Amino acid sequence: MSRKSITAIQKIKKFGKITCLTAYTSSIAKIVDKHVDIILVGDSLGTALYGMKNTQEVTLGMMMNHGRAVFNSSQQAFTIIDMPYQTYKNKREALINAKKLLKFTRCQSVKIETDKNNVHIVKHLKNNNINVVSHIGITPQKHKNFSKIRSVGNTVLEIQKICKLAVDLEKAGSSLIILECIKANVAKEITKLLSIPTIGIGASVNCDGQVLVINDILETNKSVRKPRFVKNYSKLNVEIENAVKKYCYEVKMKKFPTKKNSY
Ligand code: KIV
Repeated sequence: MSRKSITAIQKIKKFGKITCLTAYTSSIAKIVDKHVDIILVGDSLGTALYGMKNTQEVTLGMMMNHGRAVFNSSQQAFTIIDMPYQTYKNKREALINAKKLLKFTRCQSVKIETDKNNVHIVKHLKNNNINVVSHIGITPQKHKNFSKIRSVGNTVLEIQKICKLAVDLEKAGSSLIILECIKANVAKEITKLLSIPTIGIGASVNCDGQVLVINDILETNKSVRKPRFVKNYSKLNVEIENAVKKYCYEVKMKKFPTKKNSY
């Protein structure tokens, strides 16, 4: 089975929708890979796996280990890996760290959270033959507290700024662009303006594709404050708790292990 290239992903814009989910571990990557166009090794692993309050403590080392596991356990999906907070502060550091991340993990593209101040970083990475996915709108690395998330594109000025940023990022060489929590009409406008695909999270059906965090669609943990863009497709937290309870009960009652489980 051959792995999807960035060109193959970009072509989908013309005829259909792009599917993307995050994966951080080998077991999940194997399942997700059978279905999605893109796997994102997101720095959301900080909150989803490590119990951090935000993504600012995620390190390059963490991303490298999870990225390698995901790449090695997938075969067909295009693979994107997040560059963690503060690892792309300037052109020199961005290039060193992107090369390190891609060489070790073999993922096909990096993703960076972008604003008007780092468009030149996208250009520099692209000029050095690195695929870059940009991420605009709500950019989680800037937020210490996720409960305050709002939508982007509420005023004429905000709409003009975000549209210009998207266009500048395409010109700088972005391969794809993630739109997070951007108003539906603005996402529609950006998707029309760009020839590269837009992938939305909380940015409506008007994007060329969608991305969600795998732990959110599975509901591995019951969250107190769930952003409205999250949809739970299962209740894994309930399944896990039932299994744990059953195991503990059987051990206490000497029902496990049975002869079948023994040597
Ligand atoms: O880190 C991540 O998982 C992301 C997605 C939510 C887009 O950036």
